[in-house]
Amino acid sequence: MNVILFGPPGAGKGTQAQFIVEHFGIPQISTGDMLRAAVKAQSPLGVAAKSIMDAGGLVSDEIVLGLVKERISEPDCRDGFILDGFPRTTPQADALASLLDGLGKHIDHVISLDVDSAEIVQRLSGRRTCPSCGKGYHVAYDAPKVAGICDVCGSALVQRNDDRVETVQNRLDVYRQQTSPLKEYFEQRGLMRHIDGNGTIQDIQGQICSLLKGSA
Ligand code: AP5
Ligand code: ZN
Repeated sequence: MNVILFGPPGAGKGTQAQFIVEHFGIPQISTGDMLRAAVKAQSPLGVAAKSIMDAGGLVSDEIVLGLVKERISEPDCRDGFILDGFPRTTPQADALASLLDGLGKHIDHVISLDVDSAEIVQRLSGRRTCPSCGKGYHVAYDAPKVAGICDVCGSALVQRNDDRVETVQNRLDVYRQQTSPLKEYFEQRGLMRHIDGNGTIQDIQGQICSLLKGSA
């Protein structure tokens, strides 16, 4: 089962991807996580991407496609994968289609998490992330047992650079201009499945579960 999780910044793609990984046993391919790992490692790719990400812009299609191409060919993706944060532009979607075609694969579902703008700002401003194991939290909606400390590994939680208020607005603008046209792209191909992403994390897990059960 090959799935794309689609939606604006802060819609809950990463949160729900973690759930699908645990529940359906297929790996998550998050281009945001891969890019943040490159930034942390200060690799040439990471150095090139950092200022773009901090400003809330999109890294070049070429860089992102290189990352996805390598990851999707790994053995653990053989029986399925969840794409989170990719594709984000029409050229990325076209390149994904030819990549999968070459591998004899296809996308089964594009799950769109539809969330109101005001809710998105609330979610991003309260998001905290573990810099060691990557687990995501929210100060109010999905708080760790001890404030500021990761439940899994005990590290101090941090706020992402691009979750500052001024950057969030730019990320939302970039989403509207460059990524939201993909809704039509996937609708036309009969792949789009809409989920009301405004509910609780558990509500949305339930909706995703019902949707995917038939194809798991
Ligand atoms: P990326 O990491 O992909 O960021 P994003 O798309 O902006 O998505 P987020 O990670 O912000 O949100 P999410 O939907 O995963 O929400 P989450 O589950 O964390 O990309 C970062 C940057 O990398 C981009 O700006 C770009 O520069 C670059 N990049 C990445 N991919 C690229 C590509 N393909 N092309 C070019 N550039 C690329 O949830 C948010 C918060 O809400 C959390 O605190 C969570 O606990 C909480 N929450 C989640 N669900 C709920 C709920 N139902 N109710 C209440 N709270 C909830
Ligand atoms: Zn952790």
